[in-house]
Amino acid sequence: MMPNIKTANPVNSFIPLSVPVIQGNEWTYVKECLDTGWVSSAGKYVQKFEETMCSYVGTKQAVACINGTSALHISLLLAGVGAGDEVIVPTVTFIAPVNAVRYVGAQPVFMDCDDYLNMDVQKLKDFFTEECLSRKGMLINKKTKKQIKAIIPVHIFGHPVDMEPLMILAKQYNLFVIEDATESLGSYYRQGKYSGKMTGSIADVGCLSFNGNKIITAGGGGMIVTNNKTWAEKAKYLTTQAKDDEVQYIHHEVGYNYRLTNVASAIGLAQMEKLEAFIATKRTNFELYKNLLSGVPGLSFIEEPAYGFSNYWFYSLVVDKKDFGLSNLELMEDLSKEKIQTRPIWYLNHLQKPYKKQQAYKIQKAKKYFERVLNLPCSVDLAAEDIKRVVESIKSLGNKK
Ligand SMILES: Cc1ncc(COP(=O)(O)O)c(C=O)c1O
Repeated sequence: MMPNIKTANPVNSFIPLSVPVIQGNEWTYVKECLDTGWVSSAGKYVQKFEETMCSYVGTKQAVACINGTSALHISLLLAGVGAGDEVIVPTVTFIAPVNAVRYVGAQPVFMDCDDYLNMDVQKLKDFFTEECLSRKGMLINKKTKKQIKAIIPVHIFGHPVDMEPLMILAKQYNLFVIEDATESLGSYYRQGKYSGKMTGSIADVGCLSFNGNKIITAGGGGMIVTNNKTWAEKAKYLTTQAKDDEVQYIHHEVGYNYRLTNVASAIGLAQMEKLEAFIATKRTNFELYKNLLSGVPGLSFIEEPAYGFSNYWFYSLVVDKKDFGLSNLELMEDLSKEKIQTRPIWYLNHLQKPYKKQQAYKIQKAKKYFERVLNLPCSVDLAAEDIKRVVESIKSLGNKK
């Protein structure tokens, strides 16, 4: 049985930031899992979900994982990152990729963001040139004397990272690149070497997430995508407890219970059938917000770069208090009184308690955007009336104080 398709939130009802829309074959596929008893990882939906993702993202291999964080953890193991190594991560991101660096015993080095909130690739280049030494094919951080082994660019809120110069740097310095495409499923490049290629398919490996707030959900879940068969096989091995003998349970390595279940994969597969429609709606709704808010002093949006197509997972409003009259947090509080949920970007990772002693390179834009960005409601089932209500509230709150 399917729920009623939601129409506009009635006046004064709560408008959430981002909730999943489950209106397709989810019930049918999950029922089949339950009817047949194939609920764990061995069922057919795991493989179907992986195959569907391969053909969508354009990679040869995909390994479904229990969540996006475990996909990142395993990817770092594939990269051979371990104790004593360093990994370049953005300071503007959900903390999961930063924590994954610690899971393997390595240390993060934090990079600033550009005007799309993504890792600033020019600063990355400056950091390698000014602060590092290239020795015997290894990149050594002059300050810490540690080897930098990998970079984790994150396609923030769906907008593609400038991967072309980033991949040139990675090749030059012999670095493994893990693309965190957890927020950008369906985003791709329109210009340059990677024109037509999806985010997640450019680097050595890509990681996806199907958490409930993502553009599609499996009720949780993640995936590693890559063109490298050896790495995919290794990822599958490590995510299923590194089992070397199925009968006697012999293990030659430390493994993890990180494989996605059949039930979750069934939901993910059904959601994949809606992905293109979801992206179209995300983009239409973004345009509506943008048009309705254009001309309001002190307000602008983070938009997709010219070189890339964004899935517009989140709508990041940039609030300039000087001209708008309220800061991003003040606007958030006032909107919440009107039952409209919004959120600032994550607290900067280089300032988080477990990471504040780590190296951070010339963080400037991240501070500016942290103080200004407010993400607006962006669920796929938002009706035009909902968006108009959010916009009218924002307009009525501006320039009063
Ligand atoms: C940038 C980023 N990386 C990693 C993750 C982790 O994914 P998961 O929640 O599926 O572990 C998320 C989202 O949750 C994310 O936004």
